[in-house]
Amino acid sequence: MKNKVTYYSHRILSRKYICNMGQKKLIKFAAIKEYENVLEYPQGMPGKWNAFFQELAKGTNNISLNDLAISQPTKPLVLELACGRGEYAVGLGRMFTNQNFVGLDIKGNRIWKGASIANRDGLKHVAFVRTQIDQVTQYFAKNEVNEIWITFPDPQLRVSKAKKRLTHPKFLRLYQQFLQPGGILHLKTDSPNLYLFTKTVIELFGLTLLTATDDVYGSEFMQSEQWDERCTIKTYYEGLNIASSNRIHYIQFKLDKELSIELDEKLKDIIAEFEVTETHDSLARNGKQAME
Ligand SMILES: C[S@@+](CC[C@H](N)C(=O)[O-])C[C@H]1O[C@@H](n2cnc3c(N)ncnc32)[C@H](O)[C@@H]1O
Repeated sequence: MKNKVTYYSHRILSRKYICNMGQKKLIKFAAIKEYENVLEYPQGMPGKWNAFFQELAKGTNNISLNDLAISQPTKPLVLELACGRGEYAVGLGRMFTNQNFVGLDIKGNRIWKGASIANRDGLKHVAFVRTQIDQVTQYFAKNEVNEIWITFPDPQLRVSKAKKRLTHPKFLRLYQQFLQPGGILHLKTDSPNLYLFTKTVIELFGLTLLTATDDVYGSEFMQSEQWDERCTIKTYYEGLNIASSNRIHYIQFKLDKELSIELDEKLKDIIAEFEVTETHDSLARNGKQAME
C-alpha cells in the first residue's frame, strides 16, 4: 500500500513538475515577445544592425524594423551562434562596450536568460535573434559581421550527421556570406571529435588557423602568446562536461578562402575514418579509457 501511495504521489508530483516546467517556458516565451532586445524571425534585418543598436541604446520602445535605415556598421558586430543562454554575447558585451553582440538560437526559453541579464544590466549593445541557424543568411548583409563564436554546439557524433556540425563547410559557406573577408570564427568545445573534425576542415580547405588547443585552461596555453581572455567566459553547457573529456578545446581560424564544393567528397572520405574517433567521445562519456 505504502509503495502504491509513493508511486501515485510520484506521478502527481512529476505531472505537477512537468506542468510547472511548461508554465515557466510559456512565461519566458511571453516575456521575450515584450523585450526590445529579442527579435523573433525578424524580416528585413540585413544591413540594419547598426541602426537597430542605436535605437536600442536610445531606449526606444517598439523599435520598428521597417523604419530602420540600412547603413555601414560604425561598430564591429559579433555573432554568437547556438548561443543557448547567451553567456558569450553577454560576457563579451561586458568586456567590450564598443562592439555590438547578437546571440542566435532557436530556443526562446534559453535566449530569455541572456536577454533578461542584458536588460537588467543595461547592456544596450547585446541583442538576440530567435531563429534557425540554417536561415542565418537571411539576417545579415554581406560583410556585416566581424566575428563568430560557437560554443559547445552539439558535436553530431555520427558520421552520417557530419553535415549538421556547425563547422562543416556547408555551414562555413553560409557564414562567409555575411562575415567580413578574413573574418574570424571561434569554436569552444569539449568534444575531441568536433575539435579534430574542425581542424581537418581547416587543413583540407586551406583556411588560416590562428589558434588550436585541446586544453584551453592548461597552464601551457594560458601562459602562451595565444592566450585570449575571452576564453575565460564559461557557458552553461561548458559546466555540464557532457563529453567527459575534462578538457576544453578551442580553435580560432579565419574563413579566408573559397570553400570548393569538390572537396566536400574528400572530407566525407576522411571523416569516414573518424569512426574510431567517434567512439572516443562515446567511450569518454561512459567514463572509459578512449581508444587511440
Ligand atoms: C549544446 S547547446 C549549447 C548552448 C550554449 N552555447 C552553451 O554552451 O551553453 C546547443 C544550442 O544550440 C541550439 N541549436 C541547435 N540547433 C540549432 C539550430 N538549427 N538553430 C538554432 N539553434 C540551434 C540549441 O537550441 C542549443 O541552445
